[in-house]
Amino acid sequence: PYKKAITINEALKRGEGRVTLRGWVYRKRVLKEKAFILLRDSTGVIQLVFPRERLKDAEELNLESSIVVTGALVREPRAPGGVELHVESVDWAYIGEPYPINEDAVVADSEYLLDVRHLWVRSRKMQAVLKIRHTIFGAIHEYFRKNGFYEVHTPMFITAAVEGGATLFKVDYFGQPVYLTQSSQFYLEVLIYSLEKVYVIAPSFRAEPSRTRRHLTEFWHAEMEMAWAGMNDAARVGEELISYVVERVLAERQDELRLLGRRTEFLERAKPPFYRVSYDEAVDILRKKGISINWGDDIGADEERALTLEFDKPIILYGFPEKLKAFYHRNDPKRPEVTLSFDVLLPEGYGEVIGGGERIYEEKELVEKIVRFGLNPKDYWWYIDLRKYGSVPHAGFGLGVDRLTMWITGADHIRDVVPFPRDVRRTAP
Ligand code: 4AD
Ligand code: MG
Repeated sequence: PYKKAITINEALKRGEGRVTLRGWVYRKRVLKEKAFILLRDSTGVIQLVFPRERLKDAEELNLESSIVVTGALVREPRAPGGVELHVESVDWAYIGEPYPINEDAVVADSEYLLDVRHLWVRSRKMQAVLKIRHTIFGAIHEYFRKNGFYEVHTPMFITAAVEGGATLFKVDYFGQPVYLTQSSQFYLEVLIYSLEKVYVIAPSFRAEPSRTRRHLTEFWHAEMEMAWAGMNDAARVGEELISYVVERVLAERQDELRLLGRRTEFLERAKPPFYRVSYDEAVDILRKKGISINWGDDIGADEERALTLEFDKPIILYGFPEKLKAFYHRNDPKRPEVTLSFDVLLPEGYGEVIGGGERIYEEKELVEKIVRFGLNPKDYWWYIDLRKYGSVPHAGFGLGVDRLTMWITGADHIRDVVPFPRDVRRTAP
């Protein structure tokens, strides 16, 4: 099995010559005179043709058996990819047990596919999603690095809530209660005083009690924070980042998008500037559409969906009422009932992908708001401490990378874009 082999993608490109290929049996069709096997590896699929003398070899290969084969490449317009391999020898085979995933199982039950996720990740669909995820994460790093942000690393064990107590996971830490972080924001706020512009890509955790299409209990969070910046600066970074990532995926992952059946018009249009819509305007738009909402009410998943269907590009929704956003958001000095906060909503009904804004930078204002929100300033001692030593206006955001991946791939459910999703009912595989 360690024999020199070329990838299937390379074989399809060459189209002729004698080569060794290795991979897994993806489909099998045994006829009287010959057998066809679709072989897959990480780069593609190719048809193997087993001649009459080798029918027995093909017969015993169950789906997902691993094999190494040598033979001649032949151009054949009817084969997928236009090239097939006429097998001369099977150099190695690990015959699998009958594979538990077949098309009936796929159609019957998506819950079943979650139970066998350790096997389902081999599917062409998951392969395509995983490759797009790879490109998305790489592009986020590239964007931040090209624009002067330093990558930093922050702890996941924390002692006080960032986004409210309701969704905190408690962990027994040598007998002391600590929590899994919901966001790395507060540590990024610390690090701007060293590096000015910082970002981190890390998991965040939320004890989300209900199963929805867009909530996980463990998700990947790309967060940034910048010194000397306000809400509009952060929003501009958000729209540039999203459009940069989408552009990379469109440039590098056309095959995968096609395999997933993703139409790309909305992706192609996602270029700055995104639409700016204030919370006040959003309430008006929703009311005109007959949705009952009052000023001060939350804009939930259904309202976001309705709103995004009115626009052909992402929306930057800004200026949320104080009580709808976490305590750290700076209130608008010209209009204290609203905060200098924003969300980025993705089109086609997808909704929120970014939450961010400007932070309170004055100590007195921060402590007062912590108290007004019923929290204990003692829990936030070091966060408050930052406001004592050369505090500056600053802003940042967090982007849910799984949600961005969902929109880019056109998935219906966030679980479909994560190799091992975690939700209220599932921690294995
Ligand atoms: O809007 P959120 O709660 O904002 C924050 O956590 C800020 N502290 C971020 C910051 O300013 N540094 O979360 C940010 C984003 C959301 O817009 C969403 O995309 C994603 O994180 N997100 C989730 N994704 C999947 N499952 C969940 N349970 C998520 N909760 C938030
Ligand atoms: Mg949010």
